[in-house]
Amino acid sequence: MNPWKPPPSRSPGRVTCASVNAEDPDFIRTARASYDALATDYAAHVPDGLATRPVDRALVTAFADLVRANGTAPVADLGCGTGHVTARLHELGVPVFGVDLSPRMVALARRTYLELRFHVGTMTALDLPPETLGGIAALHSVVHVPREHLPALFQEFHRVLVPGGHALLAFGTGDDDHLHMAERFGHEIALDHHWHSTATVGSLLEGAGLHLVARTLLEPEGNGKRQRAVLLARKPAKED
Ligand SMILES: C[S@@+](CC[C@H](N)C(=O)[O-])C[C@H]1O[C@@H](n2cnc3c(N)ncnc32)[C@H](O)[C@@H]1O
Repeated sequence: MNPWKPPPSRSPGRVTCASVNAEDPDFIRTARASYDALATDYAAHVPDGLATRPVDRALVTAFADLVRANGTAPVADLGCGTGHVTARLHELGVPVFGVDLSPRMVALARRTYLELRFHVGTMTALDLPPETLGGIAALHSVVHVPREHLPALFQEFHRVLVPGGHALLAFGTGDDDHLHMAERFGHEIALDHHWHSTATVGSLLEGAGLHLVARTLLEPEGNGKRQRAVLLARKPAKED
């Protein structure tokens, strides 16, 4: 058990949805509305990916080891959904909280993991001071950010990470292709997925000042057609 609770004065509880409003870009508003519509069925039908994927679990464990070796700053699980990854990181002894765009996903995560903290917000504009986070986990969530917004997203990751902090990203790969989903589980939605190669995402991370540590490609599972990528990147330490 990790008893970590954010100190009141620098509480990640201040991660808010301040930037989630009518002026938000379309991709933020549509992703939030879509996941709000899907939340209950998503939780019922989409299993915890880490429970059945030992390689993914090993990479999350390596990420947790690296974060712990660099200090005690917390990890933010960005696009935490129903909170499985946040809970796994907590089990691994990392101080962690979840952030998700969808208030309904956050409500489900809070209900399932009573001892953990989850906040509504967008990963594109975190209400956190610079150099606050020991790590960022963003598993299967950056696919909802269009290509042209990725440079600013990764600059935001760089801003909030402490020197020597790590970012772990997982995403389905593609050749800059795009899927617009209009229906899922019988709900009318407007959810966009943007798939890129590891080379594209890797070079955008590097462009934001995050150095690539590892690139893993996982072959498609079951009827899936896409390889999944897991990228680990690090913000250089001051002495590097
Ligand atoms: C496919 S789910 C992945 C959930 C979890 N990370 C996992 O791997 O099981 C994608 C999640 O990302 C969230 N999301 C999408 N865009 C986001 C953004 N800009 N900021 C924060 N969360 C976002 C969605 O609301 C959704 O809960």
